[in-house]
Amino acid sequence: MRVDLDEELCIGCEACVDTCPEVFEMEDDKAHVKVEVVPEDLIDSCREAAENCPVEAIQIEE
Ligand code: F3S
Repeated sequence: MRVDLDEELCIGCEACVDTCPEVFEMEDDKAHVKVEVVPEDLIDSCREAAENCPVEAIQIEE
């Protein structure tokens, strides 16, 4: 599974970083994806982060 984050949409609420810090990090008030492929054990928390983003900036690619 891959994850894509539209930094144009991101409003920097940091919910994704709180939910899944292994995959997301903040960089200049915007979230940034740290990994190319999401490891198996982080898939659930990564999906949760995508669902919780208030502006739907996070896209999951199966
Ligand atoms: Fe940005 Fe959404 Fe994360 S607004 S900081 S991508 S939860």
